[in-house]
Amino acid sequence: MATPLKPRTYVPRLRDNRIDGVKYNRSSSKRNNFEMFAWLGMRLSGVVLVVLIFGHLFSNLMVGDGIHAIDFGFVGGKWANPFWQVWDLLLLWLAMLHGANGIRVIIDDYAEKDRLRIWLKVILFAACAFVLLVGTLTIFAFDPCPSGAAANLLPSFCSAR
Ligand code: HEM
Repeated sequence: MATPLKPRTYVPRLRDNRIDGVKYNRSSSKRNNFEMFAWLGMRLSGVVLVVLIFGHLFSNLMVGDGIHAIDFGFVGGKWANPFWQVWDLLLLWLAMLHGANGIRVIIDDYAEKDRLRIWLKVILFAACAFVLLVGTLTIFAFDPCPSGAAANLLPSFCSAR
């Protein structure tokens, strides 16, 4: 008699495979490498995040007046430079995708009910997409001195334009 295969975890899935009464979490009909790329993506984005995060902290907290220089004008000045726009965009996208994928794995591991798992992931993906959209728009569409705005609402350095 063949030895019955054991399921990898005991969390039931929507598309459970049942062989000889044993449930399998991963459907054999779904042959793609998503989980492998997600695993690799966590490691690669983690390494890049170390560089991006320490570069961000160094330029914001240690160069010049450090933390005392951070205000509206500091951020406006940084995003006037394409280098920092790309730096912050990478930081935003990698941190969000890395963090959201990490939470996805935690949801898969701990939320046992199918409906709960699906809803938690819908909320997670919607929140992630929202932050990515608003963050990307902010980095590229941010204008500290919008034309037509009342002068008393603008920061002092805008009058130099
Ligand atoms: C300093 C840069 C970072 C490095 C080197 C790093 C590295 C990693 C690695 C290698 C994993 C996979 C762990 C595993 O599969 O067992 C992981 C998981 C995770 N990371 Fe990061 N990470 C970094 C920054 C971040 C940031 C900024 C966030 C939040 C936005 C984040 C959120 C998470 C979450 C939620 C998980 C899943 C935790 C789990 O599975 O228990 N990480 N991280």
